[in-house]
Amino acid sequence: MTQPDDRPIRWGILATGGIAHAFAHDLALQPDCEIVAVGSRSKSSADAFGDEFGVPHRHASYQALVNDPDVDAVYVSTPHPGHHDAALLAISAGKAVLVEKPFAMDAAQAREMIDAARGQGTFLMEAMWTRFLPHIARVREILAAGTLGDVVYLTAEHGQWFAQDPKFRLFAPELGGGALLDLGIYPVSFASLVLGVPAQITAVSHPAFTGVDATTSMIFQYDSGAHAVLTTTLLAASGNPAAIYGTAARIEIDGWFYTPTAFRVIARDGTELERFEEPYEGRGLRGQAAEVGRCLRAGLLESPLLPLDETYTIMQAMDEVRRQIGLSYPPA
Ligand SMILES: NC(=O)c1ccc[n+]([C@@H]2O[C@H](COP(=O)([O-])OP(=O)(O)OC[C@H]3O[C@@H](n4cnc5c(N)ncnc54)[C@H](OP(=O)(O)O)[C@@H]3O)[C@@H](O)[C@H]2O)c1
Repeated sequence: MTQPDDRPIRWGILATGGIAHAFAHDLALQPDCEIVAVGSRSKSSADAFGDEFGVPHRHASYQALVNDPDVDAVYVSTPHPGHHDAALLAISAGKAVLVEKPFAMDAAQAREMIDAARGQGTFLMEAMWTRFLPHIARVREILAAGTLGDVVYLTAEHGQWFAQDPKFRLFAPELGGGALLDLGIYPVSFASLVLGVPAQITAVSHPAFTGVDATTSMIFQYDSGAHAVLTTTLLAASGNPAAIYGTAARIEIDGWFYTPTAFRVIARDGTELERFEEPYEGRGLRGQAAEVGRCLRAGLLESPLLPLDETYTIMQAMDEVRRQIGLSYPPA
């Protein structure tokens, strides 16, 4: 159903952890949305979140949240193993759904979620917020204009250092821990944006003390002959740059390539063709909310900037990496 123009998009926040807080802060900067409800496994967490962000409806279960008739769009922000069930809950309640990255634990779960949304006729999108940032929009324009010539290879990395706490989500197998699913998804999604679906994947990995992957490196090869060289780790703080190298020019994206940042376009002979640097308010999470609103008002059931078929092929690539490095998780 197309969203009426006479009121903001009314968000319901499903789970009250770290990223839910960051998203709520960014939503406050975004016109045309409001948080009307929050749902948590516990009433006390729902109330605390509600008090912090002035949210009127506080629910003591995810089911009660998705049943809230005042909610247009549900933001799923549980740990990864919870994404599938929470998204299906919201889809079956007929809500538009924005699901944190990684979209699901694997492609099979992603398939079920996508089929359910299409069957129900509800909007669904992966919260890969990088896609909706101004520098990435400009990178897309430059790629489409052919400024780089043929893309020969790209590099992207995502490394952060975390204290080795077995209970911490990123080290805990039962919470879908590991570098690949949490951090590696950004380089993998970036490669998909630039080069599409890989023809061949080669991956190697070193495990963390809990058995999840600590450092994973991947080379994706494409039918065009291009390569994507991607690394992710939980053991070292990287500057997290990315670059795209073409026959005519290259793009060097500054560190933390997946957050609001700057980049340069440099010709083969070293001439700087463009420097992109724009002020950005907020952490970068509101662009995805703006895109959900734009799609709902246009009556779209998925975003053309991150179609569900692409989210699915990204999950397939992640599955292949997992298969090669022997990364499995306990059943939910
Ligand atoms: N976009 C980004 O930049 C970004 C950054 C960080 C994380 N993320 C993604 O967001 C998701 C959540 O990450 P987070 O850092 O917010 O995690 P977190 O701080 O641990 O919060 C997760 C929340 O999920 C709920 N939950 C449901 N089942 C749970 C379980 N078995 N154990 C723990 N919590 C459970 C809890 O909320 P209730 O108690 O209220 O139910 C909890 O507060 C992950 O999938 C992650 O990849 C995205």
